[in-house]
Amino acid sequence: MKIKSLLAALVISITAVVSQGQDIRLPQPRLSEEATLKSALENRCSQREYDNTREINPLELSNLLWAGWGYNREDKRTAPSALDRQEITLYVCMKDGVYRYDAEANGLIQITDKNIMGLTGKQSFVESAAINIIYVCNKELSSSRSMSMVCCGAISQNISLYCASTGLATVVRGAFDADTLRTALKLSPNHEVLLTQSVGYPATK
Ligand SMILES: Cc1cc2nc3c(=O)[nH]c(=O)nc-3n(C[C@H](O)[C@H](O)[C@H](O)COP(=O)(O)O)c2cc1C
Repeated sequence: MKIKSLLAALVISITAVVSQGQDIRLPQPRLSEEATLKSALENRCSQREYDNTREINPLELSNLLWAGWGYNREDKRTAPSALDRQEITLYVCMKDGVYRYDAEANGLIQITDKNIMGLTGKQSFVESAAINIIYVCNKELSSSRSMSMVCCGAISQNISLYCASTGLATVVRGAFDADTLRTALKLSPNHEVLLTQSVGYPATK
C-alpha cells in the first residue's frame, strides 16, 4: 500500500515536471559586441528564402527577443510605446508549438503544441522559416491603433537590425489572416493581431 502511494506521488511529480517543461526558460541574452549599428543598417533587408533545416538556438532566440522587446531598464523596454503602455505581446511560432514571450521572466510560455506555422501568413515561405513572430495588441492598454502600429514597427525594426547584425534572415509581414490567428492563439476579443515577422537562417544559394 505504501509502495502504491509512493508510486502515485512519483507519477504526479513526473507529470508536473513534464508540463512545466513545455514552457522554455531562455538563457540570459548575450549579444555580440562586434557588430556595429552601421553594418546592421547596411545589411538590413527583407529576405524570403529560408533554410528549413536550421533551427534558432535558445541563446539566439533569447538575444533576438530581448533586442526586440526585452527590458533594458527595470521596467522599460528596448522599443518605445505610446504613454509607456507596453501593449504589445510577442507570440513565437515554432514547429513544436506556439509560445508567448514573457520578457520579465525571460522565458516562453507554451500556448499550444500544434504546428501553426502555415497559418501565420499567406506566402509559402512562412513554413520554411525557423520561427514566425506574431505581434498581438492588448486593445484595453492601447492608447490608439495607430500608436500600437508604431510600437510594432519599432519592435520589428529592432528584430530586423538584430538579424542583420548576426546573419539571420527576416521579413515583416502584413499578409496574414487576423481571424485565423486569433482563433489559433485562443485570443480574447480585446486582443488584435497587428503584424507578423518571419525569422530564420537564409537559404544557401
Ligand atoms: C508594414 C509592412 C508590411 C509588410 N508586409 C509584407 C508581407 O506581407 N509580405 C512580404 O513578403 N513582405 C512584406 N513587407 C516587406 C516589404 O515588402 C519590404 O520591406 C519592401 O519590399 C522593401 O524591401 P526591403 O525591406 O528589403 O528594403 C512588409 C513591410 C512592412 C513595413
